[in-house]
Amino acid sequence: MEQGTQQHPDIEKVLLTEQEMRGIVEKLGEQISKDYAGKNPLIVAVLRGAFVFTADLMRTITTECEVDFMAISSYGDSVKSSGVVRIIKDLDTKIEDRDVIIAEDILDTGLTLSYLIKNLEARHPASISIAACLVKDVKGKHSAIKPKYVGAYVPDAFVVGYGLDYAEKYRNLSYVGILKPEVYS
Ligand code: XMP
Ligand code: MG
Repeated sequence: MEQGTQQHPDIEKVLLTEQEMRGIVEKLGEQISKDYAGKNPLIVAVLRGAFVFTADLMRTITTECEVDFMAISSYGDSVKSSGVVRIIKDLDTKIEDRDVIIAEDILDTGLTLSYLIKNLEARHPASISIAACLVKDVKGKHSAIKPKYVGAYVPDAFVVGYGLDYAEKYRNLSYVGILKPEVYS
């Protein structure tokens, strides 16, 4: 088995296999292709976590679209939201009157996306929607944020792989898994 595909020793449980992720992303791409036909949306990938998701998602979209990148940080190397969101890299594209799709790796408390939406709305895009690859299944925790596109719901545990990291590691895993708590405690 290739590295990234076999189960890493720090992974407690595989939640979504490489094959499952492919199916999940294909479905989102189909939906987006239908909803944005003839519109040329700008996909805003939230770095770094969403880079794998975005690369796969874009290739399942069959209508015209563009991509740009924004780097924001709310976590540092911790596994808990710090409550502080910083723009590390801004878009190069003007989004005024554009249809924007924010591609996010995982929606947890919603803090990161709330900040991002407010920031992008101030630039007067035609529309903003959210494509969240994963959403943490925690009732009430992120009620303010309603992603139009959700890949999969995951339990309230720290998950890595498919672009998601802990201290910059595990992004290369081709599946999504729960990290063993002893790795970060
Ligand atoms: P909030 O709480 O702002 O969090 O919705 C979203 C951002 O926090 C990171 N995050 C995680 N990263 N495993 C990760 O690797 C997780 O389980 C996890 N939960 C939240 C992520 O960067 C996301 O953009
Ligand atoms: Mg991270």
